Amino acid sequence: TFTPNAFVEEVIADMKAKIGDDKVVLGLSGGVDSTVAAVILNKAIGSNLYCIFVNNGLLRKNEFQNVLDQYKGMGLNVKGVDASQRFYDALEGLDDPEAKRKAIGRVFIEVFDDEAHLLTDVKWLGQGTIYPDVIESVSATGGPSATIKSHHNVGGLPDFMKLQVVEPLRMLFKDEVRRVGATLGIDPELLGRHPFPGPGLAIRILGDITPEKVAILQEVDAVFINGLKEHGLYDKVWQAGAILLPVNSVGVMGDERTYEKVVALRAVESTDGMTADWVHLPYEFLMKISNEIINNVRGVNRVVYDISSKPPATIEWE
Ligand code: XMP
Repeated sequence: TFTPNAFVEEVIADMKAKIGDDKVVLGLSGGVDSTVAAVILNKAIGSNLYCIFVNNGLLRKNEFQNVLDQYKGMGLNVKGVDASQRFYDALEGLDDPEAKRKAIGRVFIEVFDDEAHLLTDVKWLGQGTIYPDVIESVSATGGPSATIKSHHNVGGLPDFMKLQVVEPLRMLFKDEVRRVGATLGIDPELLGRHPFPGPGLAIRILGDITPEKVAILQEVDAVFINGLKEHGLYDKVWQAGAILLPVNSVGVMGDERTYEKVVALRAVESTDGMTADWVHLPYEFLMKISNEIINNVRGVNRVVYDISSKPPATIEWE
């Protein structure tokens, strides 16, 4: 059986022996895997671990600042890089899902490479790869815990990718990573976070991306996610989010006719994301959330709930 305490002790000793006094650079995503990997490396090598947390402008509302503060509070040596505009520029006019994914992957690598170049004498690239990623490493689209590797198929290899790779969680399954995280004293809320795709809200805004659309979706998503938390539903759902549809619908507001955006809400149960069932959220809850969204988020006048399971639908709409 797996004992998190023993694992932690052993992996820290291993990392110390392997890395010695070298420097390691690691990209934090706000997700469970990269965070646990960073905390382990931090315990092993301290400030020789250089973490980079990139804001791609496609994160949840306030997520960049909140998570960055949380990382700093955990004592991690982390630099937050707000590259939102670079991502928006690269996404301008793109409406094909794969083209959007590719652009985001490319810009992420560029930003990370630029940042890594500001550091001197780095020998290692730390990654939060877990065992299922190792098995699936052939599929290049990337799963929920997509690592930098899953994006590497663009142009020549950037310099940081020529570094030696160190992956402290390589042999662990997701639930083991969570248990290790708990042993390390990481905030249970962070460990219990839903998976969130690397391309972020870009694949939940159907069609082209603008900062205005991102702002609308962030508001809608925040109402939904906070509502799930307030009603004790967040931990009963494997993943949830909102999708901004590229259609307007007619509504009434007071005496006025409106013609505004439609959003879809999605919540699924799953164990690994490969198959998923839509969650039977209580009608009362859906009613409350729908009212709150329509009354508070400008530009949205209709909310629908996605009742499709995977397969044949996917979890994300793009
Ligand atoms: P689908 O939509 O394929 O999603 O049913 C399955 C799981 O994978 C996540 N997902 C992604 N994660 N990069 C990622 O890092 C991506 O391009 C990507 N596409 C989907 C999705 O959020 C779900 O958890």
